[in-house]
Amino acid sequence: MSGTKIDGKAYAENLRHRVADAVKSLPSQPTLAVVLVGEDPASQVYVANKAKFTVETGMRSLEHKLPAQTDEDTLIRLVRTLNEDPEVDGILVQLPLPKGLNSDRVIAEIHPDKDVDGLTEASAGRLSLGKPGLRPCTPTGCVMLAKDQLGDLSGKHCVVLGRSILVGKPAALLFLEQNCTVTIAHSRTKDLPAVCREADILVPAVGRPQMVQSDWIKPGACVIDVGINRVDSLKNPGKTRLVGDVNYLPSKKIAGSITPVPGGVGPMTIACLLRNTVIAACMRRDWDVPSVLDF
Ligand code: GUN
Repeated sequence: MSGTKIDGKAYAENLRHRVADAVKSLPSQPTLAVVLVGEDPASQVYVANKAKFTVETGMRSLEHKLPAQTDEDTLIRLVRTLNEDPEVDGILVQLPLPKGLNSDRVIAEIHPDKDVDGLTEASAGRLSLGKPGLRPCTPTGCVMLAKDQLGDLSGKHCVVLGRSILVGKPAALLFLEQNCTVTIAHSRTKDLPAVCREADILVPAVGRPQMVQSDWIKPGACVIDVGINRVDSLKNPGKTRLVGDVNYLPSKKIAGSITPVPGGVGPMTIACLLRNTVIAACMRRDWDVPSVLDF
């Protein structure tokens, strides 16, 4: 017996089709503005993919590429211009920013109604208060995949491993919104394996390659692995490969369902960003959010 592999790539593709259907039903085309500062190769790939999928789903993509030496005031002026541009529905500032730029200060400038990353204090506050708002993309993708596997999540015990601002904390609040009983475990948690073994849904998000072992997993549990870690390949010396926070192959034998890395949570982030862009456009322009985007 072996657990089901959760195909995040397929789910993300389906979600992008739903976004495209939603876009077709709107009175006009939403616009996503992406700001990239510097030449970080990984960020360049992310931004290129975002632009590609934005256009593929029928939306407009604006790209602002600034040199690594850009000063904070110039970047903030750009964000303010995008805030005021009535054509722009979503603003995303690609992270990490080059050294010398304070990402907290820059993110704080994004208007909450255009905060498609869900990273501003206003968005975090709305999530925490249970008010409507734009939710962070990767944690939303985790909830979607868990719901797709398990259906109603009410009463399930969700253990989120990690308490980062980007994933752990918002994931815990989003699973709480689904009426889960939520535990946030972290580096100071006593007997981490025992806490993880309590989970019906285990969400490791710590960025430690293959830290979660198969005997940390309750038989039949749903495992949503957020980790994306680059490690040296044993098979191909000199090459690297991607692994999650979970030791996948032995864990798959114990879990009821589990996301692979790559191909699990990763592809969900951009799909949820596109969904947020449509939601942001609808909220700001007073349109109904198309029900194809429900999950
Ligand atoms: N860098 C890597 N992932 C992300 C993301 O989801 N949002 C932003 N703004 N930057 C990123």
